[in-house]
Amino acid sequence: MPYVPKNAPSNERDPDKADMTAFEDKKVFVKTYGCQMNVYDSNRMMDSLATKGYSPTEAMEDADLVILNTCHIREKAAEKVYSELGRIRQVKEKRAKDGKGEMKIGIAGCVAQAEGQEIIRRAPVVDLVVGPQAYHKLPDLLDKANHGTRVVETDFPLEDKFAVLPDARKEVTRKRGVSSFLTVQEGCDKFCSFCVVPYTRGAEVSRPASQIIHEAEKLAAAGVREVTLLGQNVNAYHGESPDGGDWGLGELLFRLAEIDGLDRLRYTTSHPRDMDDTLMAAHRDLDILMPYLHLPVQAGSDKVLKAMNRQHTYDDYVRLIDRIRSARPDIALSGDFIVGFPGETDEDFEETMRIVREVTYASAYSFKYSPRPGTPAADSEDQIEEAIKSERLYRLQDLLAQQQKDFNASKVGTEMTVLLERKGREPGQLVGKSPWLQAVQVDAAEELIGEIVTVKVDNLGSNSLFGTMIDRP
Ligand code: 5AD
Ligand code: SF4
Repeated sequence: MPYVPKNAPSNERDPDKADMTAFEDKKVFVKTYGCQMNVYDSNRMMDSLATKGYSPTEAMEDADLVILNTCHIREKAAEKVYSELGRIRQVKEKRAKDGKGEMKIGIAGCVAQAEGQEIIRRAPVVDLVVGPQAYHKLPDLLDKANHGTRVVETDFPLEDKFAVLPDARKEVTRKRGVSSFLTVQEGCDKFCSFCVVPYTRGAEVSRPASQIIHEAEKLAAAGVREVTLLGQNVNAYHGESPDGGDWGLGELLFRLAEIDGLDRLRYTTSHPRDMDDTLMAAHRDLDILMPYLHLPVQAGSDKVLKAMNRQHTYDDYVRLIDRIRSARPDIALSGDFIVGFPGETDEDFEETMRIVREVTYASAYSFKYSPRPGTPAADSEDQIEEAIKSERLYRLQDLLAQQQKDFNASKVGTEMTVLLERKGREPGQLVGKSPWLQAVQVDAAEELIGEIVTVKVDNLGSNSLFGTMIDRP
């Protein structure tokens, strides 16, 4: 999953929504770190807080409640949170001095899950620590915090944590834009030896298919054209089917493809071990399943893959990619890579370079290995020197950047469908997404936002393609 720090997207609310006026008008500022799951969770938290009269603000100093939705995937995550808290404390103090009222501060996400009580101990300014397993309880927890109790909630729930969400949502109508995430699965049972996710997000849990179908129908009815199914290990999805059976991700995709008004489906992020035959068939048979797959391999050397507990070899992965490409010849691949895993020799690293050359990626994320406390690899005595990690990362990123450029260049002169999402930088310009997740800029009128148009790609910018609209609905 791409771990790119970003602020939570702004959330437009329907100003005419009458039931909002019944609440005390309070503001919440949410800052989101890390993966798309966190972006989704931030929205989910804002939805449930709307039931308590909180609306989002983008200015921290206006906020009655500040939530940091944190990420624990790489080094010094907790330290970064503590230093951010130092800055927030100053804003809180200034706000109090200006007579704007008290500001409550909450820590959510994977650092909250991992650190728990320790945050309360180290950071007196924090009122509330809530792990990803407990967001459905947020309004109640906040009540406690507002009454002066410092709250820590990081237990894994016994109740169905998904079941509560749609109810909280009923209160809110939010314009979600034309592309939306939908969580179908959380947690991971794979236990890759470098990764904290199985500890912070817990065991794999899949939502029942009927809930997902219902939510996707609501999104489609609200004008969403593209849905990305989210999960830490989404292709391990195994949920209850509407008739009480068991569905994998493939079956779910076939069913979602029937929903009127949904034109594009995607899913992220996946594990190579969980690409089953029905999912493969979905890639072969469903035009609306976009030809883009994020399927991390992490490394090329069989020895390193084994030490990472990835449960497959170089050859297994390459054969899998061959099968996927036979099912869907225009599919583009994206991946995650780790360099400098404990014990990785020069020869091992060359295997990573070799698999990248053999597979070719349209885009990728690559990282230096960083020991995460509590994971098996962190205890290994064969840690790799920083300078070697840097050099390997540089070489790998150079190769991946070249492949990305080649992939983008291969689309120049072709025609493609583009889902127009928002206004571009220049007046009269809109930005949309290609089937392969490339940003595409075209001259088009604003009322075409939300439409899928045909574009001829004219040339390549540094971060996007430029094209001319040749057909529209
Ligand atoms: N060190 C470096 N990269 C990591 N990732 C996960 N854990 C670590 C770690 N300890 C990377 C993996 C994963 C992505 C989300 O983050 O490549 O696929
Ligand atoms: Fe982490 Fe591996 Fe699970 Fe991905 S599959 S979330 S890398 S343990």
